Amino acid sequence: MPPPSPGEELPGGATTVFDTTLNAFGRALGNMEPARWRTLHEGKALFVRDWSAPPHALAGPLTNAQACNSCHFKDGRDRPYDALGPEAPLLIRLSVPTAEVPGGAPEPVYGGQFNDRGTPEVPAEGTVQVKYVPLKGRYADTTPYTLRRPHYELTPLGYGPLAPRTQWSPRIPSTVFGLGLLEAIPEADLLARADPEDADGDGISGRPNRVTSVRTGQPVLGRFGWKASQPSLEQQIAKAYAEDLGLTSPLYPESTCTPKQEACRSVMQTRGEPALPAELLEKTTLYIRLLAVPARRDWSAPAVRRGQALFQRTGCASCHHPEFRTGEVADIPELSGQTIRPYTDLLLHDMGKELADGRPDAEATGSEWRTPPLWGLGLLETVNHQLRLLHDGRARGFEEAILWHGGEAEASRERFKRLERADREALVAFLRSL
Ligand code: HEC
Ligand code: HEC
Repeated sequence: MPPPSPGEELPGGATTVFDTTLNAFGRALGNMEPARWRTLHEGKALFVRDWSAPPHALAGPLTNAQACNSCHFKDGRDRPYDALGPEAPLLIRLSVPTAEVPGGAPEPVYGGQFNDRGTPEVPAEGTVQVKYVPLKGRYADTTPYTLRRPHYELTPLGYGPLAPRTQWSPRIPSTVFGLGLLEAIPEADLLARADPEDADGDGISGRPNRVTSVRTGQPVLGRFGWKASQPSLEQQIAKAYAEDLGLTSPLYPESTCTPKQEACRSVMQTRGEPALPAELLEKTTLYIRLLAVPARRDWSAPAVRRGQALFQRTGCASCHHPEFRTGEVADIPELSGQTIRPYTDLLLHDMGKELADGRPDAEATGSEWRTPPLWGLGLLETVNHQLRLLHDGRARGFEEAILWHGGEAEASRERFKRLERADREALVAFLRSL
C-alpha cells in the first residue's frame, strides 16, 4: 500500500471542520475570519426561511417546497426522514427539444420544472409517482444482489397533457457544503482533465459542460447540478429561488408562472410578482460558499487504506479525481490555495443506458452526468437518516451506486464485481471514511 499522502484526512485543507454529528454539513469554514459570523447567520436564516409563511409570505403560487432546507435538510440532500416518510423530494426538469435552444426549451405550459405544490387558488402542476422494479444480479463470486429500477409517472397532470416529445429528468437534491471550494478550482485544471475524444484510450472521455451565464450572456464552464448545467453558485441559487420557491430575482426577473398558467398569472397581477432583492440573493450565496467539508474518519484504518488502493485500481479515481488545489478567491481568501480532496473532476461522463434520462441539459447529452464529489458522503446517513445515492436516489447504498455505473464506467464496475467480498467491503469502508 502507498503511504498516505499528507493531509489525506483533511479533504478541505485548512477549511476542514471536525464534526461527526447531525450538524456535520452545516459548519462554517474551519479557518473563517470571525468577522464573517454575522453574514453567515444572516445567510443561514434565509436558507431555513419558510417563504410561504405569513406575515411576509413571498413565495409564488407554484413551488416545490417552502424553504431551501426543506430539500437540503441540514445542508444535506433530503427532507427529515421521520417527518415526511422514506422518499426524498424529487425534482423533475422538463424540456422540449428545439433547434434554437441547446438542450431544449421549457415545456410550454408547465415550464422548465414540474411544480408539485400549489395554493388554494392555483392548483399544483401534479404529482410525481415513482415505482421501483427489482433488478437482480450476481457478483463474480456468485453473491446475489437486487437493485431497484425506477419508473416515473407524472400523474395526475393538473394542466393537461405534456407537449409531445417532452423530455424529463428526475433529480434528488445535492449536498450543499464544500461548494465554495469547488467553485475555486481553476478552470484550466478542470479542462486539463477533459479527454473528449478519449485520446489516451482508457475508455474514459470526460468533457466540460458549456452553459450560458445569465449575468454576461456568454458561454462559460458548468460546474453545479447533476449535469453541471449551472456555472456559479449565484446562478444555481437564483434558479432555485425562481423554480423551487417561486421567487424572481435580478438574475431571473421573468414571472415564475408560464404565459399559459392563467390562474397563476392572475394571482401575480393582483399581488405583484414576488421578487428577491439582490442583497438577499448575495447573502444566501455567501452562506453556501462558507459551508465547510467535514474531516474524514478512520482514514488510517488498514481496511480503509486497502479500500483506497482498490479505489485507484478499479479505476474509480479516473473520474472521481482525488485532488485539486484551489486558486485565488479575492473576497473570501480563506478558500484560496487549499489542497482539497473532493473526488470529482466536475466533468460529464456517459454513464450508459440504465442511468440515462434521455434529456439533454445545455451541452450534456441524455446519458451524461457530472461526476459528483464523494467527500462527506460517509456522513450522509448520520445527517439525513438515509443513504440514497445517484441523481434520482435509486441506489440504497454504496454497492448499489457502483453497480448502476455503466457507459464509460462499465469497465470499472466490472472490476468491482470481480472483487472478493472482503475487497468489496474494504472499498466501501473507504467510501464511508470520506
Ligand atoms: C424542491 C427541492 C429543492 C429546493 C427547495 C432547493 N433545492 Fe437546491 N437542489 C435541489 C436539486 C434537485 C438539486 C440538483 C439540481 C440539478 O441537478 O439541476 C439542487 C442543487 C443545488 C445546488 C448545487 C449543488 C451541487 O453540488 O452542484 C445548490 C448550491 C443548491 N441546490 C442550493 C439551494 C438553495 C440555496 C436553495 C434555496 C434558495 C435551494 N437549493 C432550494 C433541490 C432543491
Ligand atoms: C466514467 C466515470 C466514473 C467512474 C470510472 C466511476 N464513477 Fe462513480 N460516478 C460517476 C458519475 C457521472 C456519477 C453520477 C451518476 C448518476 O447520478 O446517475 C457517479 C456516482 C457515484 C456515486 C454516487 C454519488 C452520489 O452523490 O450519489 C458513488 C458512491 C460512486 N460514483 C462511486 C464510484 C466508485 C466506487 C467507482 C469505482 C468502482 C466509480 N464511482 C467509478 C462517474 C464515474
